[in-house]
Amino acid sequence: MLYVVVILADPKYESRLNLALSLNIYVPRDERFGHLKLADFLSYALKSIVQVLKPEFESIFDKTPNEFDSFEDVLKLYEGGLEVPEGVVKVIRDNVPLEMLKEIFRTDGERFLKFPLPQVIAVDKFAWRTDEEFAREMLAGINPVMIRSLEEFPPASKLDPKVYGDQTSTITKEHIESNLEGHTINEVIIERKLFILDHHDALTYASRTLLFLQKNGTLKPLAIELSLPHPEGDQHGAISKVFVPEEKGVENSLWQLAKGYVGVVDSGYHQLISHWLHTHAVIEPFIIATNRQLSVLHPIYKLLHPHYRDTMNINALGRQILINAGGALEVTVFTSKYSMEFSSMLYKDWVFPEQALPQDLLKRGVAVKDSSCPHGLKLLIEDYPFAVDGLEIWFAIKTWVQDYCSVYYKDDESIKKDAELQSWWKELREKGHGDKKEEIWWPKMQTREELIETCTIIIWIASALHAAINFGQYPYGGYPPNRPAISSKLVPEKGTPEYDELLANPDKTYLKTFTSQFKAVLGISLVEILSRHSSDEVYLGQRDTENWTSDAEALEAFAKFGKKIEDIEEGMKRMNNDEKLRNRYGPVKMPYTLLYPSSEGGLTGRGIPNSVSI
Ligand SMILES: *[C@@H]1O[C@H](CO)[C@@H](O)[C@H](O)[C@H]1NC(C)=O
Ligand SMILES: *[C@@H]1O[C@H](CO)[C@@H](O)[C@H](O)[C@H]1NC(C)=O
Ligand SMILES: [Fe+2]
Repeated sequence: MLYVVVILADPKYESRLNLALSLNIYVPRDERFGHLKLADFLSYALKSIVQVLKPEFESIFDKTPNEFDSFEDVLKLYEGGLEVPEGVVKVIRDNVPLEMLKEIFRTDGERFLKFPLPQVIAVDKFAWRTDEEFAREMLAGINPVMIRSLEEFPPASKLDPKVYGDQTSTITKEHIESNLEGHTINEVIIERKLFILDHHDALTYASRTLLFLQKNGTLKPLAIELSLPHPEGDQHGAISKVFVPEEKGVENSLWQLAKGYVGVVDSGYHQLISHWLHTHAVIEPFIIATNRQLSVLHPIYKLLHPHYRDTMNINALGRQILINAGGALEVTVFTSKYSMEFSSMLYKDWVFPEQALPQDLLKRGVAVKDSSCPHGLKLLIEDYPFAVDGLEIWFAIKTWVQDYCSVYYKDDESIKKDAELQSWWKELREKGHGDKKEEIWWPKMQTREELIETCTIIIWIASALHAAINFGQYPYGGYPPNRPAISSKLVPEKGTPEYDELLANPDKTYLKTFTSQFKAVLGISLVEILSRHSSDEVYLGQRDTENWTSDAEALEAFAKFGKKIEDIEEGMKRMNNDEKLRNRYGPVKMPYTLLYPSSEGGLTGRGIPNSVSI
């Protein structure tokens, strides 16, 4: 489950040209930043962090590894109290123009770093440690797409027992029954009140977290199981430990550590799967097929084009400095050098029609069909902020796409006869997502309904889904203890010096396990840039030019969409002020704003850009 990061110079590894601070990678002409924008600054900032700050910090911290001793020590990062070694300051001064220094490194060339205060600790410095907040972030945090309903007990595994032995969970009813408000496991399964954050199979050895939906609508974590490979080989199954919530003593310290490991596993899944794979990467083939097969005058080109803005550029940059071998991600995320392997492996499980939000919720068992509910769906966790807000946005996009497509396609026949549209879809399936061309689940693109659903999914992924996954990175993850991404130690065993240290100083053990200073500072610098909007961003419901079409009906439908998006935002604000909806605020008192459509530029924790642009 845990890897200590060691980057060796292996000749079989991909290596990169030293491009200094230029970005000399081929991106098709049409897709280059064609506009003066802050994104140029943002990419400059990313490059500076990775190419200037990272190697310097690496060498300095290698010689004198520094650890945080207490949470107060970590908080100094936001108060201008972390001293940067002199050598680093010199290299930064020599390489980065003065006007960039303040923005990028949070220093004006002085020796102290100062980051903005992340929202998760803005009101209360310690509420993130509560169990309620830990669970709430599965519904309103930056990876709210993973929790699912648990329908069997103990949780099973889909891994092949011939290869992996018995991987069934070792969580028993004794571990959890005392926390079920007097019910039995069977009762709560039948009532659909048991949930799981299951990272076990995807990582083979990782974590399972069980949660119970309480009467007041909040989730209570019941147990965390952490698994490691069997020393005598995979076929012997996993070696697992179960932790349960305890309020006091060393059991509480162990429980806090267990929650930290869940954070690590979930952060890796978030960055590589939910974020990189499920938004940035899967959209690229659509961009290429659209440019190659649809003329710029084609109505579907005009519909989709705003949702592709800057994506090829940001992905090229990501491949150059973030996800590449030896890049920033491998240093800051626990999957280390296996990161891309992990991501490409899970591409096998990606299913296009299931990216539609209603399908996703049904598949995870967190919603059921119910014609008496709005949109025909009943959420089993009623106060599930990502799902509630997401459904509003999803159906607004769908109505817009439907209105727009109806202007140009009056019947199914017109879809079949549109040669450009058919070649677009053929190229997308057979070349763009060519590894999946045999899948029978692709829409056939023979009916209006198939065109509408397809375009809705593309727009949803590029806009709202990416926004929900991306712009909370700093608000939640800018404080690494809340969202650790890498660990350097296993859970201490009784009778070891590490265990004694845990007894003596649990906070220090927690920080030593999850928050090495170098990785924390590098990680915070990165998510700070990645959570920003450029000042000329275009948000959902807007276009960068009014004259994108001269068709009055299309313009009218678009104006209606823009109005609907504004109304939805008002509704979200009202819900955030409703104290009954506890999961929207939680103990950290941080309203759920990640799906507010509008935003200013900068680090706002809100705003749905049309496209994946950072
Ligand atoms: C919800 O109910 C549980 C169990 O009664 C309680 O411990 C918890 O504090 C409640 N949460 C809120 C936010 O009221
Ligand atoms: C849009 O087109 C109209 C008519 O051709 C023109 O008068 C107007 O200035 C254009 N608007 C913009 C923003 O280009
Ligand atoms: Fe992103």
